[in-house]
Amino acid sequence: MRVGVFGTGHVGLPTAAALAHLGHDVVATDVDAEKLSALSVGRLPFYEPGLEDLVRGELASGRLRFSANPTATVTDRQIVFVCVGTPPRASGEANLLALERAAEIIGRHATGRLVVVEKSTVPAGTARRMQETLARYNGVVSFAVVSNPEFLREGCAVEDSLQPARILVGSDSGEALAVMRELYAPLIELGVSWIETDVRTAELAKHACNAFLAMKISYANALARICELAGADVVAVADAMGADPRIGRAYLDAGLGYGGYCFPKDVAAFERLSARLGYRFRLLEEVAEINGQAVGFAVQKVEEILWNLEDKRIALLGLAFKPGTDDVRFAPALEVARRLLAGGARVVGYDPQAGATAKAELPELEIAADAYAALEGAHCAIVCTEWPEFRDLDLERARTLMSFPILLDGRNLYGDAAAAAMARAGFTYLATGRHPRPAVPASIH
Ligand code: UDX
Repeated sequence: MRVGVFGTGHVGLPTAAALAHLGHDVVATDVDAEKLSALSVGRLPFYEPGLEDLVRGELASGRLRFSANPTATVTDRQIVFVCVGTPPRASGEANLLALERAAEIIGRHATGRLVVVEKSTVPAGTARRMQETLARYNGVVSFAVVSNPEFLREGCAVEDSLQPARILVGSDSGEALAVMRELYAPLIELGVSWIETDVRTAELAKHACNAFLAMKISYANALARICELAGADVVAVADAMGADPRIGRAYLDAGLGYGGYCFPKDVAAFERLSARLGYRFRLLEEVAEINGQAVGFAVQKVEEILWNLEDKRIALLGLAFKPGTDDVRFAPALEVARRLLAGGARVVGYDPQAGATAKAELPELEIAADAYAALEGAHCAIVCTEWPEFRDLDLERARTLMSFPILLDGRNLYGDAAAAAMARAGFTYLATGRHPRPAVPASIH
C-alpha cells in the first residue's frame, strides 16, 4: 500500500522502515530538512540498534524514501501516519501543536480518501480534534482518523516494530479498520494479536499501558526504600513477586527510577487528562512522586558517605536514560549530575553512546572517553545506566585509579557475587534496596 509518515524520530523512523520492510511503499517526511537529507543517504540522527541497517536496506529496495514534498507524502497516499513529538507542557499537559500542524499539511494536500493514523501517544479525544482540523483545511475529502499507538521501547524499536506483542487499532470507521488490517496483514498472518476498539479506547489504552509500567517501577522503588529500612533485599523480593505470572518480573527493577521521553510525560499527561475529565488520578500522582524521590535518595547516599560534596570528583557510569540508546531526555543520570553539581562537586560522566548528547544537554558535565578515564581521581562512582560493559569493570584497576574506592550501584547492575568481589577489592559498595549499608572502610589510600 502507499503510506506517508510524518515525523522521523524514535517512533516515526522505525515505523516507516518496518512498514517498508512489510512490503509497502513508504515516503517519510520531517520538519527538519537536514535530518531528511541525512536519512536519504542512510545516516540516522540517533542510535538505535539495527535501525540503520533496516533503513539502508529499505532505501536500497526503493520501498522507503524521504521527502519534504507534501505531494509525495500525502497526495497519492492511502494512509498517512502521524508520528510527531507530543512533549509535556509546563502544566504536564501534552503539547499537541505538532499534531495540528501535521493535520494542516495533510488537509491541504489530500485529494482522495485518506486514513490518518495517530501513532504518537496522545490523550483520549485527540482523534476528534484531528478530524475537525482536517475538515477545516479540506471540506471535500473524507478522512478517517485511526489510533494505532506505538509500543516501541528505545533500544528495541526494530524488534518491537517487526515482532510486536500486539497491534492495537482504534477507529469509529469500519472501512478504516479494514484498511489497517490490510496494511498489517503480513504481521497478522504471523500470528501477532490484533486488537480493534473504538478510537478513544485505543488512545486511552496506550496511556494506561505506559502508566501501569511506570507504576510497577515506582512500586519497586518504594519497596527499595522499605527494604533498606528493614534490611531486606529488594531484588529477591522482586524475584519472588515476578515468579507469579499474574505479576511478572519485568519492570520491577528498583534504582534511579524511570526516565526517557515516554514514561515521565505519559504519566503526567494521563494524570492531567483524568483531572480534566473529572477524575483525580491520585495513584499516578504518587507514581510520579516516588519516581522523583529515587534520584534524591541516591544523591543523599553520596552526600552521607562523602561528607562534603565540594572538592569531590564524582564519576557517573552511564548517562543515557537506559542502555541501548544515546537518548538522555529526562535521564535520571543527568538529574543526579545536576544535583551533585549544585552541591559543589565536579562531575564526570562516561557512556558508550550518550556522551555527546549528555554534553549538549548539560555542558558543565565533563565527558570521559571511557569508564577508567571517568574513574581517575574520583571520590565516588555511580552506576546510572546498566550498560553491560560495566559488568566487566577491572576492579583492581578501578581501585588504583579512584581517590576513594566507593561505588553506588544506581541500577543494581551488580549481583551478590560481584558485590562480594568489590568488597574483596576494597570497595565500599552501595546498592539500591539491598545489602544494609556497610561502614566506611578504615583504609582509604
Ligand atoms: C516505554 C515503553 O516500554 C514502551 O512500550 C512505550 O512505547 C514507550 O515507553 P522506553 O521509554 O523506550 O519504552 O523504555 P523502557 O525500556 O520502557 O524504560 C523506561 C524507563 O524505565 C527507563 O529509564 C528504564 O531505566 C526504567 N526502568 C525500566 C526501571 O527503572 N526499572 C525497570 O524495571 C524497567
